[in-house]
Amino acid sequence: MESIEVKICSGTTCFVMGSTYLNELYEIIPQLYGDKVTVKPSLCLGQCSSSDKHSKAPYVKIDDEYVSQATIEKVLDVLKKKVEQV
Ligand code: FES
Repeated sequence: MESIEVKICSGTTCFVMGSTYLNELYEIIPQLYGDKVTVKPSLCLGQCSSSDKHSKAPYVKIDDEYVSQATIEKVLDVLKKKVEQV
């Protein structure tokens, strides 16, 4: 089974908008899902370039889906649905 990939943006905009708050996910996700889900930092995910999207940082990408204004709760919510689909 392929694992789901979570990328947490560590680019400047997302950093300024509070992405460090998401660092807990590096511990929480492996605890919840083991090797079913990989979680890693990513360079700018390219979502912050336009001004309307800019304000929706920080971003997290889960497989091909972007989570804007990402919070731990939001990311875990999307991830839960994905895991249930696999
Ligand atoms: S810095 Fe996060 S999408 Fe650009």
